[in-house]
Amino acid sequence: IGTGGMGVSQRKIASEVGAEILRQGGNAVDAAVATGLALAVVLPRAGNLGGGGFMLFYSKELKKTIAIDYREMAPLQASRDMFLDEKGNYDRRKAQFSLLSAGVPGTVAGLYYALNKYGTLSWGEVLDPAIKLAEEGFVVPHDLSSVLNNYKKRLTANKATAKAYYKANKETYSAGEVIKLPDLAWSLKELKKVGPDAFYKGKIAEMELNGGLITAKDLANYKVKERLPLQGTFKGYEIVSMPPSSSGGVHLIQMLNMLEPFSLKEMGFGSAKSIHLMSEVMKRAYADRSKYLGDTDFVSVPLKGLTDKEYAKALLKEISLKKVTPFKSISNGNPLPYESPDTTHFSVMDDEGNVVSNTYTLNFSYGSGIVIPGTGILMNNEMDDFSSKKGVPNAYGLVGYEANEIEAEKRPLSSMTPTIVFKNKEPYLILGSPGGSRIITTVLQVALNVLEHNMSVKQAVVSPRIHHQWLPDVLLMEEGFSPDTVTLLEEMGHTIRSSRTMGSVQAIIYKDKYFYGAADPRRPSSGAVAVNP
Ligand code: DON
Repeated sequence: IGTGGMGVSQRKIASEVGAEILRQGGNAVDAAVATGLALAVVLPRAGNLGGGGFMLFYSKELKKTIAIDYREMAPLQASRDMFLDEKGNYDRRKAQFSLLSAGVPGTVAGLYYALNKYGTLSWGEVLDPAIKLAEEGFVVPHDLSSVLNNYKKRLTANKATAKAYYKANKETYSAGEVIKLPDLAWSLKELKKVGPDAFYKGKIAEMELNGGLITAKDLANYKVKERLPLQGTFKGYEIVSMPPSSSGGVHLIQMLNMLEPFSLKEMGFGSAKSIHLMSEVMKRAYADRSKYLGDTDFVSVPLKGLTDKEYAKALLKEISLKKVTPFKSISNGNPLPYESPDTTHFSVMDDEGNVVSNTYTLNFSYGSGIVIPGTGILMNNEMDDFSSKKGVPNAYGLVGYEANEIEAEKRPLSSMTPTIVFKNKEPYLILGSPGGSRIITTVLQVALNVLEHNMSVKQAVVSPRIHHQWLPDVLLMEEGFSPDTVTLLEEMGHTIRSSRTMGSVQAIIYKDKYFYGAADPRRPSSGAVAVNP
């Protein structure tokens, strides 16, 4: 709890970097950019320079929210069938773990754009804390040590990755030891010296041209897009979230519209009734996602229609409150959607009322697992977020069609859902999450926990969550629901699987002049840091 601002991220040490910038008089954008750069050092599986993401910024002065899209772009040589083998089948290795899996990274351009346009500090000032962490090292938390250990085989297969993140004999750092990232420190210092051009045209750019599809032209051609955020309402609250190239905002608003006529509060948190209703609503949204959503710079997406309250009403007519609607089930042998512990969200609010809600990622943990030699920079594998083959699920079990097929310069469809909820025109709840396809349903439930169930922000973040994404036709439930609830849901026709934890929400509520931060305990070493003048 604080009265002078708040930073919440998946690494407390990075939240502290942001809070310190706020204490020194920086605004929310300064603090957010510094946090993002610090996370690229201390949370290497998701914090990044070689990936991309989305930032929502509410400017108190302009009284409006700006959406900054710094999602990766497909390289110019990318083409629709690039991830199909000779038999025309989806080649998972190529799409997820090869150099071809990398989209042109947007993070450096995006963070610089935000700072330059809406921040108050210099690029060097916000880079300094990250440089210090990379150069002097930081204490390895248990979480980093154990994830690096789990991924050892994949990550040490790449020489530069092994060199950057493991000891000389491929030994994993133990919790409590100090890890230094000298190559990454060099890259950050290049960025400080030259600016973002170092990454897109300069020395770092040269090193990026190492055999994948990405060319110097691609790097020089990368564009940040400032977009109009999507706006919806829910029981008097205003919901502001991310437009395409993310699907997050569209479906968050669509699901809230469908749930608005009901009182989930009366049904009760964790009741079979409320879970059934949410799950039926989720299915409709994900069915629409697979068909309609893609990069709006390339395909037209019926955003108005999808977020229209009348459309929500029409969809509701097909929902029975008592029974599962039978959906064609996915053919046997398809794995459940896989969630890797990556992507990351951070939320920042300053004492003037400016807000940043930012989610960014490399896609999988450590992206493609490939570090660009000499730079310490991990490359994303975001190209797998495209639909490589019609109707064939990607890593998250998500299916897609033409709207999300691969095209040069197109952005792969994301589920990232950085969101700001307004109450009486003032920012009230700031949140977002990782979780692949589960991001949108995670954000939905945490928002409902606050807006419907009147939970504190901490309780809202901690409470167990569910997920349904239409295909596969399975209702996922975290541990923590009553067995009675599970039995009732099975009687209604749900196929239930218990799930590992879903998402990692970093949220803030601003109420009565206090900032309340909540960092999700599902991923350890996260933390909310308050500023108290
Ligand atoms: O943009 C997306 O939707 C995915 N690349 C996000 C990946 C993710 O959240 C993985 N994490 N748990």
